[in-house]
Amino acid sequence: MLVIAAVPGGLAGGPLDVLVDNAVRTSLARLERSVSEVGDPALYPSYGTPQLKWQLKSSADWTSGFYPGCLWYAWEISRDRRFEGWARQWTAAIEQEKLNPDTHDLGFRFMCSFGNGIRLGQGPEYDRYKGVIITAATTLARRYNPQVGCLSSNWDLVKIENAFPVVVDVMMNLEILFWAAENGGSPELAQMARAHAITTGRDFVRPDGGTYHVVRYDQNNGRIINKGTLQGAGPETTWSRGQAWALYGMVAVYRHTREQRFLDTAMKLADYFISHLPADHVAPWDFQSGIKYRDVSATCIATSALFEMIRYLDDASLRAHYETEAEAMLASLCQPPWFATRTDTNCLLDHSVQFLPINSNVDVPAIFADYYFLEAIARYRAWHAAAGRLGSK
Ligand code: GLY
Repeated sequence: MLVIAAVPGGLAGGPLDVLVDNAVRTSLARLERSVSEVGDPALYPSYGTPQLKWQLKSSADWTSGFYPGCLWYAWEISRDRRFEGWARQWTAAIEQEKLNPDTHDLGFRFMCSFGNGIRLGQGPEYDRYKGVIITAATTLARRYNPQVGCLSSNWDLVKIENAFPVVVDVMMNLEILFWAAENGGSPELAQMARAHAITTGRDFVRPDGGTYHVVRYDQNNGRIINKGTLQGAGPETTWSRGQAWALYGMVAVYRHTREQRFLDTAMKLADYFISHLPADHVAPWDFQSGIKYRDVSATCIATSALFEMIRYLDDASLRAHYETEAEAMLASLCQPPWFATRTDTNCLLDHSVQFLPINSNVDVPAIFADYYFLEAIARYRAWHAAAGRLGSK
């Protein structure tokens, strides 16, 4: 078990720009080496071993989009065209998932891979990415039930007649529906995404801002059967990655709708996340569990979300508050033991948890931690670059 050691919080290890520059240099070198470690562009890093080597999975795994996503961010950050080539290579095999009806995670897979490609790339080779994303979004939309006002998730631990389970993670798969609707897909895709976010805000978020991981509805009338957790410690605890998914998802929904209610919910979720962090800003895997593992991925996701959220806040003191928190979180992530120090690894961050109750991939690297870490860095730098241009934050 990882002993929770006190690591320097805030900027104790040096000014944040220096920490970020060092982390970027090491991250780019590791990602370059990872291309040989992975080798086959139809295989994708998922979780690390305890020796910090990548376990590889096919495009069918929910995590497959994150490795091409890391390569896209490496290109954006470095402008080294080799990363563009590798990102395109590892994006290609994800396409075979675009008609897969058995997963709620098509948004993760396609927005991190094809979505980043279309965001960053130019030229005819990128033109077909749009159609791929729209097809994937249309497949995902088949999970929508108007009685419930949600897309269903694809797994549960219990079998209940007529149950329609929804995990909070599905919030991360709304972005693809909005994007598709705004880029030639059916406008109904955005309506479904908006309804899902409203339902989630109503049913998943507790009065204190914590979240349930799963809500089970009756598929025939939309009534709630029960609420609880799948990956967290207990039905009334808050699983930290679920909280981060909810926060990030609400910010993304605000980006597409500009409806204040989603920004308000995002701030409530952020407040809970921040106020439950230990002094070093790295979330425990579950905010109420007595089992003291951390889940670095939750802090990576939340940090990236905060760097987007602050762009939407008009109130300068609120903006400064969340910016300070996001920067403190990023500073910790750039330092050991969270940023891996082994010289023989191509993983960036250590100490994530996939699924503690079944002892699966506990306290190891996770590719999605690396992805949201790189995204947080790109957003941090973009925020400061914009602030420099405008002369204020
Ligand atoms: N979406 C799956 C997970 O967060 O483990």
